[in-house]
Amino acid sequence: MLSVHDLSVTLSRRPLLRGLTFSAHPGQITAIIGPNGSGKTTLLRALTGELPATGRLALNGHDIPRTAPRILARFRAVLAQSTSVAFPFTAGEIVRFGLDAGSGPADPGLPARLLAEVDLAGAMDRPYHQLSGGEQSRVQLARTLAQARQPVTPDGPGWLFLDEPVAALDIAHQLMVMRLARSFADAGGGVVMVLHDLNLTAMAADKVLLLKSGALLAKGSAEEVLTDGLLSQAYGCRIRIATPPQTGPWLLPQSAA
Ligand SMILES: Nc1ncnc2c1ncn2[C@@H]1O[C@H](COP(=O)(O)OP(=O)(O)O)[C@@H](O)[C@H]1O
Ligand SMILES: [Mg+2]
Repeated sequence: MLSVHDLSVTLSRRPLLRGLTFSAHPGQITAIIGPNGSGKTTLLRALTGELPATGRLALNGHDIPRTAPRILARFRAVLAQSTSVAFPFTAGEIVRFGLDAGSGPADPGLPARLLAEVDLAGAMDRPYHQLSGGEQSRVQLARTLAQARQPVTPDGPGWLFLDEPVAALDIAHQLMVMRLARSFADAGGGVVMVLHDLNLTAMAADKVLLLKSGALLAKGSAEEVLTDGLLSQAYGCRIRIATPPQTGPWLLPQSAA
């Protein structure tokens, strides 16, 4: 379980997150949503131990700020919002980095299988820099999945922390990523992901954290958080939720003001 109590982050004397309390559970997809600059990436980086934070943050019972990254890496893998690769690696080499970072038995055939799972079958030897933005993003996802190869680890549930994993992807690949996240959760792991697409959030999230200006405006199920009032307040534009019986909740922007 991820348990967070009164989390605050201050960087360069700017309070970026203030007094966040929530939990996330294995078996579920927890989505972090909110406007640009509301603190989503800052929150994800605090949860992965990359940023100094105050408050109580525990993952599988480990106090996150006081646990060495190499211990956390045994049961949680992170996909950053952007990743720069300075050297001429192949796609397969990038995915293998994930195998090296994780723990437990590493099947040498796994990188090729994971590349196929992100719809990049046969791309093992392709130079990473020659891939499109969306393809690079899927290679990075495969690397993250290589690290978190066990949804249940000797240290408890495995966790995926994904920052906007579908931002560069077309609709079919967005759905593919949500399916992979769902399978990881169904197999006993936990998924925490930053999403911008509110319709994907409505479709996939078991729990939603809505941030505004560094504070938690709302938390709860998709039905509880994705409401006309809360979303209009968070994003500063009029949003209406329609609920066609065939699809479930669907969001319609009403105007730009
Ligand atoms: N290292 C930093 N020092 C000062 N301010 C920062 C730092 N990192 C991010 N910020 C600010 O914190 C706010 C939240 O950023 P971020 O968490 O990246 O937002 P988003 O919700 O878009 O992911 C932004 O206003 C950003 O400029
Ligand atoms: Mg961000």
